[in-house]
Amino acid sequence: MRWTCRSRATYRRGHACFDPRRHRSAVLCTAVARGDRLAHHRVLLADAEKHLVRYGPEFTREVIDRAAGSFVYTADGRKILDFTSGQMSSILGHAHPEIVATVQRQIASLDHLFSGMLSRPVVDLARRLSDTLPAPLDKALLLTTGAESNEAAIRMAKLVTGKHEIVSFARSWHGMTQAAASATYSAGRKGYGPSAPGNFAIPAPNAYRPDFTAADGSLDWERQLDFAFDLIDAQSTGSLAACLVEPILSSGGIIEPPVGYMAARCTPSAGNAACC
Ligand SMILES: Cc1ncc(COP(=O)(O)O)c(C=O)c1O
Repeated sequence: MRWTCRSRATYRRGHACFDPRRHRSAVLCTAVARGDRLAHHRVLLADAEKHLVRYGPEFTREVIDRAAGSFVYTADGRKILDFTSGQMSSILGHAHPEIVATVQRQIASLDHLFSGMLSRPVVDLARRLSDTLPAPLDKALLLTTGAESNEAAIRMAKLVTGKHEIVSFARSWHGMTQAAASATYSAGRKGYGPSAPGNFAIPAPNAYRPDFTAADGSLDWERQLDFAFDLIDAQSTGSLAACLVEPILSSGGIIEPPVGYMAARCTPSAGNAACC
């Protein structure tokens, strides 16, 4: 008996089709040949369960075949609006034609280099990024993930200040590497032993569920911020290096700080050590 996959695209992991008595991937080939997408799906989920590590909530039960714009598509053609938009490629839309063309063009001529070597696209990107930022933010460190960026930012803050204490929101998510996870309070803290010493949380300014309220029930973020500065004053050993804030708290609950919040400072005249 000969076992063949109907189409390469239906089974992209590059397994050959084997006799099912000798190799389990043949189960997949057989299923595809019969048009049995359910069996195909079950094998993929079983493989995922067996071979992939997941550090957060469960994987979705849908297997995504392709993505375009704001939608993802399952193998059986279901079109699903991608509500995780805001993460990774989704913020620009999946498979944006300009990005696809740029990546295809670039990877064919120059992709990854030793980090000490320069190339024109890297320098151009750094210059163009700095053109979008206020002075003195005129240098970029190009990394891959959000956690890496926060890790690097924390290391820089410690190096520059010679201090080590890091403040962040109690609803924050900065990533799952060590320093980023130590500054993350919305998840991922339990079971990993002590986090980095000198990490402090302040309340997040959540206008939808306000904890400090004005007379009309709205969030009194100025009073909340004064309370936060007092909290930091009480805990700090005088070694504050940075306050890590991502302007829109994403995994912490899509919280947008009120207008004026990011520019607010405590008044040094109040003798508050957390003032910068
Ligand atoms: C606000 C925020 N910062 C940082 C990260 C970490 O990014 P990454 O998963 O790319 O390490 C995330 C990831 O969800 C995030 O939502």
